[in-house]
Amino acid sequence: MVNTPRTVAIFGAGYIGLVTGACFADLGHRVTVRDVQPERIRLLNAGDVPIYEPGLGDLIAANKDRLTFTLDAREALKGAEIAYICVDTPPTASGDADLSRVWSVIESLKDAPHLTAVVIKSTVPVGTGDRVRAALDEAGLGHVGYASNPEFTAEGKAVDDFLRPDRIVIGASDAATAQLVTELHAGVEGPVQTLSVASAEMVKLAANALLATKITFINEIATVCEATGADVEQVARAIGMDHRLGPHFLKAGLGYGGSCFPKDSRALRAMASNSGYPFQLLNSVIEVNDLQPRRAIQRLKTELGGLKGRRVALLGMTFKAGTDDLREAPSAVIAARLLAESADVHCWDPMARPADAAPWNSTTRHPSPAEAMRDADAALVVTEWPDLNDVDWAAAGRAMRRPLLFDGRNALDPDALAAAGFTYMSVGRATLRPRVTVR
Ligand code: UDX
Repeated sequence: MVNTPRTVAIFGAGYIGLVTGACFADLGHRVTVRDVQPERIRLLNAGDVPIYEPGLGDLIAANKDRLTFTLDAREALKGAEIAYICVDTPPTASGDADLSRVWSVIESLKDAPHLTAVVIKSTVPVGTGDRVRAALDEAGLGHVGYASNPEFTAEGKAVDDFLRPDRIVIGASDAATAQLVTELHAGVEGPVQTLSVASAEMVKLAANALLATKITFINEIATVCEATGADVEQVARAIGMDHRLGPHFLKAGLGYGGSCFPKDSRALRAMASNSGYPFQLLNSVIEVNDLQPRRAIQRLKTELGGLKGRRVALLGMTFKAGTDDLREAPSAVIAARLLAESADVHCWDPMARPADAAPWNSTTRHPSPAEAMRDADAALVVTEWPDLNDVDWAAAGRAMRRPLLFDGRNALDPDALAAAGFTYMSVGRATLRPRVTVR
C-alpha cells in the first residue's frame, strides 16, 4: 500500500473522532479535529483528553505535531483533502437516526477547495450514502468522492481495534475514492474489504445486531439453565469450542449496554419497520435484553422476601469494565427498579464520573466496594471490574446485614464466595448457600 501523507479534517471529537484522528496522525497524516463543543476543544488544546480511552492520551501526545483541534470548520478544512464525519447520530422519536449533524458538516464542505473525498464513519441508515452523494452534487461538489467506512471499535480497546482491526470496510461511490481511503489506512494491520456504499452501511448495523443476538442467546440459555440445573458457564465454554460458533460474546449477564448495541439494534429495527418488514428476531433480542436486568431484580426480591427498605449495594455502574461510560448501562435500570421498590441504593464504581441525574441522584456513592456493602442486605455485581478480585469477601460479608451476593456478570468464583460465608446467586447457575457460618 502507498503511504502518502494526506491532510484530513475530522468532524466530531467524540470516542470515534478522537481515536480516528489520533490513529491517522500516528500513521503520518496531518489531522485537524473539529468539534462544536468549546469545552471539549479547550481541554484538547490544553493537552487533556475529555474521555477515558486507554492509550489515547499517549497517542495524541506522541503525534501533537500532526494533530490540531478547532471549533472552526473552515480552519479544519484548510488544505483538507479528505473530510471524515464522526459526529453522533442519535435516534429521533420515530427511532430513525438524527442526521442533522451530518448535514451541517456537508453544508460546510463548500469552503474546501482541496477536498477530494468525504467519508462517513458515523453509524447511519442504509441509503444515507445516496443522499449524501446527491447533496454533494447539489452543492457543486460533484468532483468529491464519497465513502462509507464504518468503525468496529469497542470502548476500552479502541486504539488497538483501529490499528489492528479484523477488517477495514470501505464502501465507495467510485474506484478512485476506494483507493484513496484504502491508502489512507496504509500501516493498519488488517484486510481491506471493498464493497458497495449500501453494503458497507449495512455491515455495521448487521454486525452489531448479530453480536447483540449472540449475547441475548446465551442470556436466554442462562434462564433455561436456571430452570433445569445446567451451568451456563460450562455450557458456553463447550459451545465456544466449536470453531463455527467461537468463544466470544457468549458471556451471560445483565444484558448488553453501551453506546452502540442498544442504539444500533433499535436503528436496524426502525429501518426494517419503515420498509414494512417486522424484524421479529431483532424485536425479541431487544425485548429480552430489556428484561434481563429486571429479572435479576425480581430474583433478588424473591430471595430477600421484598425490597422495601432493604439496603442494596451496586458494585459497578459503567456498561462494561475498562470504561467510564454510563450510556445505556443496565445499572441505570437496576438502580431505578430498586428505587421504585423503595430500596436504599448504595453504589461503587472505580471509573464512572459523578452522575447527578436520576436515578443516581437518589443513590449514595462510595469509594470502595467494602464501604458500599457495609450494612447492606444484598450486593449486586453489575460490572465485571477486576478490582472485585481484590476485595476481602469474608470481611465484607461480615460487615453486611446479610451476606447475599448476586453476581450479575458471573465474574467471581462461586465456591470462594460460598466459603467466605455468602449466599451466592448468579446468572444461569444454581444458587450456592454459605459453607461456613460467619456470625
Ligand atoms: C461494541 C462493538 O463491540 C463494537 O464493534 C462497536 O463498534 C460498538 O459496540 P462496545 O459497546 O464498546 O463495542 O462494547 P462491547 O465490549 O462490545 O460490549 C457491549 C455490551 O455487551 C456490554 O454491555 C457488555 O457487558 C455486553 N456483553 C458483551 C455481554 O453481556 N456478554 C458478552 O459476551 C459480551
